[in-house]
Amino acid sequence: MKLLIKNGRIIDPTQNIDLKGDLLIENGKIVGFDKNIEINDAIKIIEAKGLWVLPGLVDIHVHLRDPGEEWKEDIESGTKAALYGGVLRLACMPNTNPPNDSPEVTSYIVKKSKEKGYVKVYPIACITKGQKGEEITEFGRLKEAGAVGVSDDGKWVQNSEIMKRALFYAKHFDLAVISHCEDQNLSQGGQINEGIYSAKLGLKGKPPSAEVIAVIRDLILAKEAQKSVHLAHLSTKEVIPFLKWAKDEGIPFTAETCPHYFTLTEKEVDNYNTLAKVNPPLRTEEDVQAIKEALKEGLIDIISTDHAPHSSLEKEIEFELASPGMIGLQLLLPLSLNLVRDGYLTPLQLAKYLITNPSKVIRIEPPCFKKEAPAEIIIIDPEEEYILTEDFIKSKSKNTPFLNKKLKGRVKKVILNDNIITLD
Ligand code: DOR
Repeated sequence: MKLLIKNGRIIDPTQNIDLKGDLLIENGKIVGFDKNIEINDAIKIIEAKGLWVLPGLVDIHVHLRDPGEEWKEDIESGTKAALYGGVLRLACMPNTNPPNDSPEVTSYIVKKSKEKGYVKVYPIACITKGQKGEEITEFGRLKEAGAVGVSDDGKWVQNSEIMKRALFYAKHFDLAVISHCEDQNLSQGGQINEGIYSAKLGLKGKPPSAEVIAVIRDLILAKEAQKSVHLAHLSTKEVIPFLKWAKDEGIPFTAETCPHYFTLTEKEVDNYNTLAKVNPPLRTEEDVQAIKEALKEGLIDIISTDHAPHSSLEKEIEFELASPGMIGLQLLLPLSLNLVRDGYLTPLQLAKYLITNPSKVIRIEPPCFKKEAPAEIIIIDPEEEYILTEDFIKSKSKNTPFLNKKLKGRVKKVILNDNIITLD
């Protein structure tokens, strides 16, 4: 079958391509792109005037909650939300129940994803057994079972000696090491950012220092191990000078932030809005600005969602008892497009932050438009405005402060191998 996508803005970050033109696919594989492709026997033509045509997005920070918390999300619902968000590959975090600290859990995720998943799933396993920070898991066996990286996400590996060993050990197995940067000694009991709102609401705060100290320690260990550490969901301006320093020192690291950290401030938690409770917490306007500048400078060059579904059972309760986290898979694209609209990133840079750079962290070949590559294509309308209703959200959980708010930028079609999926 031949499929011709006509007159789109074709963006492929793996080849530094951003051109207006046509993309030809045959039998589920890319044939090529050009300013104008004329063929007579195209069985299907998709008109893409005004639309962007990109390889599928790669989100390396997703909580699928499967196994164990399937009332919040499961592999089927989470990957469906991903599909609707244009995320055609994702890595899922190990803080499930039981946690993904054994090859059995990793294999379960791999198998169920193949059976029920709408998109490709890459499991991240735990760094330590039960995420307790005490005993390192069996990285080799986890990798054999399908893990692409290790993380105790949700928690920081507080013991520096264990983290150092984990970095050396992961280097040996070429696994990504993803750090949830939060010194729990400083943040324990904290509910929101430490500052004006924690004082106003009478809630214990999490200080930016909890993140900064964790980042510095991890960078020092990455230097010693000469093994890259991936710094997850950075939220505060205070870390930026240290990222600069680490770049200058040649320390191996990658840095990630999430749309909520460059879009929302701590103001959202006013009136004890549990939908805005997230870890690390939303911070100040200056932090938001600094994160955007860091993205512009390329000090942070990966955007992922930290998609963290929680049901109303965990959210419609007292603030202190509510679980932190917000869903993000269907918000990634519309919110990230604001960085282009506001002049922080070019479309090609944004595509790098959403496709190529995250792929490098988990050591996969990114989806691309190279000849013979399997079709993993999203067609988006960057201008379409719509309301994020509960019906539109494909996750089982609807926990987002953007619920019923206007968004701009929407995935219209996904082409996966031979399948053309229209997302209405
Ligand atoms: O807000 C968060 N929720 N941050 C995390 O690091 C974990 C996540 C979750 O699993 O709910």
